[in-house]
Amino acid sequence: MNQPRDGKPQTRRILDTPLRLRSGLVLRNRVVKAAMEEQLAGPRRQPDHRLVTLYRRLADGGAGLLITGHVMIERRAVAQPGDIVLDEASDLDAFRRWSAAAGTLPVFMQLNHPGRVVRRDTGSIAYAPSPVPVQAGGLSGLFAPPVEMTASDITRTIGQFAASARLARESGFAGVEIHAAHGYLLSQFLSPLVNNRTDEWGGALRQRARLLLRVVDAVRDSVPDSFPVAVKLNSADFQRGGFDIDDAAEVIDWLSPAVDLVELSGGSIESLATAGHPADNRTLARESYFLDLATRLVGRTATPLMLTGGIRRGHVAENVLRQGFALAGVGTAYAQNPRAVRQWLDGHDAPVAPPTTWIRSKALRAAAVQAAVTDRLHTGACDRRRPRMPTGAALLADQIRRARQLRHYRKEQDEAV
Ligand SMILES: Cc1cc2nc3c(=O)[nH]c(=O)nc-3n(C[C@H](O)[C@H](O)[C@H](O)COP(=O)(O)O)c2cc1C
Repeated sequence: MNQPRDGKPQTRRILDTPLRLRSGLVLRNRVVKAAMEEQLAGPRRQPDHRLVTLYRRLADGGAGLLITGHVMIERRAVAQPGDIVLDEASDLDAFRRWSAAAGTLPVFMQLNHPGRVVRRDTGSIAYAPSPVPVQAGGLSGLFAPPVEMTASDITRTIGQFAASARLARESGFAGVEIHAAHGYLLSQFLSPLVNNRTDEWGGALRQRARLLLRVVDAVRDSVPDSFPVAVKLNSADFQRGGFDIDDAAEVIDWLSPAVDLVELSGGSIESLATAGHPADNRTLARESYFLDLATRLVGRTATPLMLTGGIRRGHVAENVLRQGFALAGVGTAYAQNPRAVRQWLDGHDAPVAPPTTWIRSKALRAAAVQAAVTDRLHTGACDRRRPRMPTGAALLADQIRRARQLRHYRKEQDEAV
């Protein structure tokens, strides 16, 4: 029994026990800082001193593992103009300084291809399994018309994931996480609503999962067995007729022989589950919102499962582990207050309130909350103290910053032609 902190006897906490991954890497505890797109790319989409400062601070927060925000594998297809890109043209020294910022704490790089979730104004190619436009309510018009990928586009993309994973390892990252959630390219292939292909890459779930499985195999082949490979997967897309929990169960079975870890999340730009469940506006305030659904996946596989979404208190993180998840992924709360995790590990509840807003439109509200969290990351990335911005102001500041980053990105793209 642990020392009682609130007068009640406590059973042994799992939160601060180590976890050994299949590759041999040992995580010192069960809290993982989940991927959060930092939008802090310097010239040539490289990391610079700001990401070094941020990751030094995040490492101080006490998690057992840090996962970077998504890093793009293709320079001509970015989700946001401030996204980092890792490809053969990258300067690996800049990436080495980033991975080294966390000292001995392992950092996984998350690798992503946005597929059709690219904004028109980036001039990026909106690759997709099938030419099904993004349906994001009033924001739909912002997205570029999707282009159906050819077989050779698919083969090239698999190679790009593998190359970026190899370069991540050469740059000192401890592992990679392949992003197959949230409606980006690999998740689009998994979705029966977006993937209408009739070739070997579409049809039944096994064919729709082929791209993800081939990417995982190619990544595995490009790194040694001692290098961990994780996958982030939706427990469900929360769209009628979309990828659901039974699909997730099957895909996890197929992934299991090749991966160290599967992180479970949910939703996409078309169904904003991580920013408030589509059917329930109160979800933003609710905690650990995928737990009930995702617990159905526990016990089916020996592969460690990580649950991310709405974990904002020590006892909620502990409860996720007690339900059988190996790791608790923390995004928003980690950005809001990295030190809170240390308190959770010491047995304190230390609640972290999420950003709030009175904005009524669901899409704008989600964008504003995301902007407020991004602002916290940017505060952590700078050397001077900055006051916390109100959520509405963060949205405005986010748009101004994005416009500046867009100009740089477009200029670089024009010069590359
Ligand atoms: C600012 C911000 C950026 C994010 N960027 C990414 C990302 O790059 N890759 C990813 O897989 N998830 C990303 N997410 C989603 C988080 O990893 C996480 O799944 C989601 O926020 C729910 O967890 P939370 O409630 O602990 O924040 C992002 C979330 C936020 C708030």
